[in-house]
Amino acid sequence: MTQPVRKAVFPVAGLGTRFLPATRAIPKEMLPVVDKPLIQWAVEEAASAGIEEFIFVTAPGKEAIEAHFGPAPALDHALEEKGKDGLLRESRALAALGAHVTCVLQPEPLGLGHAVWCAREQVGGEPFAVLLPDDMVLDETPCLQQMVAAYGKVGGNLVAVEDVPREHTNRYGIVDPGDGEDTGERGALVAVAGLVEKPDPSQAPSTLSVIGRYILQPRVFELLEAGERGAGGEIQLTDALAGMIGDMPFHGLRFSGERFDCGDKIGYLRANMAYARDRDDLRDAVAVLCKAFV
Ligand code: UTP
Repeated sequence: MTQPVRKAVFPVAGLGTRFLPATRAIPKEMLPVVDKPLIQWAVEEAASAGIEEFIFVTAPGKEAIEAHFGPAPALDHALEEKGKDGLLRESRALAALGAHVTCVLQPEPLGLGHAVWCAREQVGGEPFAVLLPDDMVLDETPCLQQMVAAYGKVGGNLVAVEDVPREHTNRYGIVDPGDGEDTGERGALVAVAGLVEKPDPSQAPSTLSVIGRYILQPRVFELLEAGERGAGGEIQLTDALAGMIGDMPFHGLRFSGERFDCGDKIGYLRANMAYARDRDDLRDAVAVLCKAFV
């Protein structure tokens, strides 16, 4: 029996330089996909996977993220007066989620590994999820839900993986599947024999990249404690994860669904189109819009 995954960490302290100038005053994680900010999509995904506590690793100047989940009595009152019941329900649901949000500061953006380490006290000694809000996965079954189900079978550390073009391996953490079986099918688990951060395409052990969804054991905090710098001079989560291979089960889940890298302009635009097309009230208008641009 694996211990249930009750807590999730959302690293949201990065600078979002690829989206400047939009992200000068507005955090990247507050950019909307259709009509919800990235962070809300991620928190709702976590909630649907059974997560009960949401830990934001945030930075000075990014208060809008926490405020988004706070109470909004004046707005709620105005919505009530106008009889906008649907919007009122949504506003209250957000504040209800917010009651389970804790924030911790990452004083400087030293890297994803450092951001996760900043949440060590809030996580404590139990397995936890990490969701990077700028990675989105569109599927009938939310990606973290797929992972929680797979984790129940294998335990240990679990990362979501997908193939990328070989020329892009230097943008991601890449899995070495060793001699393990890899059917390449959606939903399949791949045993992780090694992990490398942003390898040159000529050196990459595979084209299987780790996306921003993880279920991790608290031992990762001990490895991050050393604060060693890796690729790009940052404290990399991938390096700490690599240090646990062989000590406990470690798998990649070939999740089902389409992944969008919303930290990148084209990925973000694609996500907006795909998520709008997924909505009954917008699908037809999106089809017309797409034709207009062909
Ligand atoms: P990214 O590298 O995609 O985000 O990190 P970034 O650094 O904000 O963006 P660019 O590359 O400058 O455009 C993925 C996630 O990890 C968080 C980011 O906020 C983002 O949600 N992060 C990254 C931290 O919380 N702290 C860090 O030190 C680095």
